[in-house]
Amino acid sequence: MTRVTVLGAGAMGSRIARRLAGAGHAVTVWNREAARAEALADVARIAATPRAAVADAEVAIAMLRDDAASATVWSGPDGALAALPATAVAVESSTLSPTWVRELATRFAGAGRTFVDAPVVGSRPQAEAGQLVVLAGGSTEALATLAPTLAAYASRVHATGAVGSGTVAKLVVNALFAVQLAALAEWLPAAAGAGLAPATLRAALAATPVLSPAANGAAGLMLAQAHAPSFPLELVAKDLGYALQLAGGNAAAPVTTTVAALVERAIGRGWGGDNVTALARLHAG
Ligand SMILES: NC(=O)c1ccc[n+]([C@@H]2O[C@H](COP(=O)([O-])OP(=O)(O)OC[C@H]3O[C@@H](n4cnc5c(N)ncnc54)[C@H](OP(=O)(O)O)[C@@H]3O)[C@@H](O)[C@H]2O)c1
Repeated sequence: MTRVTVLGAGAMGSRIARRLAGAGHAVTVWNREAARAEALADVARIAATPRAAVADAEVAIAMLRDDAASATVWSGPDGALAALPATAVAVESSTLSPTWVRELATRFAGAGRTFVDAPVVGSRPQAEAGQLVVLAGGSTEALATLAPTLAAYASRVHATGAVGSGTVAKLVVNALFAVQLAALAEWLPAAAGAGLAPATLRAALAATPVLSPAANGAAGLMLAQAHAPSFPLELVAKDLGYALQLAGGNAAAPVTTTVAALVERAIGRGWGGDNVTALARLHAG
């Protein structure tokens, strides 16, 4: 049993907190919007500030929207970093820019605290089922300490190397995923126009190694026109922006740049809160 603090009880953080509690860990939760934290009161202690939330933590996991949220929660007034016990391990699991993760790593090192970047692959259903894949950048010792905690919500922890490397791997995963989905969104209707029914095409693609399991799942949602949010387009846009920073700018990654523009177009139509599969609607009718 580990005393684990979850900072951020959004779609992913709340599911991770429930998995941790279900595995027998002593969970403390903080969320900016208090109601979201209080919805976890049946399984976790609720803290009033990030600082209070980590006061006796052995592991502190942040699962927040973006760089700005991470900066506020770790380093803002009442931020968690200053109150983290010396022996605790800090885990940043949000999908963030490499620049900010490097800065965070410097701040933790300056404070003499252990820090791991451990973004997750998988969405709400995988979090609920304990099937996330964690891409972890940090020391072997820190990852060994974290193993029983991560096992509560991850089916696999893949060590990527030094602090910051998990974030690099995660942004590449998300860029590849978005590119595949944008291509599927255009080819399902294009093949239909050429006489191949989309469901038949999906089955044919699934019989080959070319269609990834994640893209196959997304193709099913596109065909069903089921775009309830799991990985909303506005988060995809945020991640592609960070990925393009990582690449060194738009010119270095023209395919990803094009897909980012398609995502922005979909958001411009008012679909930012819809699932990434809503990219298919750009080609409807
Ligand atoms: N959804 C997915 O499929 C998925 C998969 C893998 C990774 N991720 C990544 O995981 C992270 C969380 O995603 P999510 O789906 O859980 O998003 P979400 O439901 O929108 O939750 C975002 C969380 O960030 C908090 N937050 C936002 N701005 C803040 C600020 N300025 N200060 C303090 N807290 C702030 C929110 O607090 P409030 O409740 O107060 O707004 C909430 O707890 C993101 O980095 C996302 O890219 C998501």
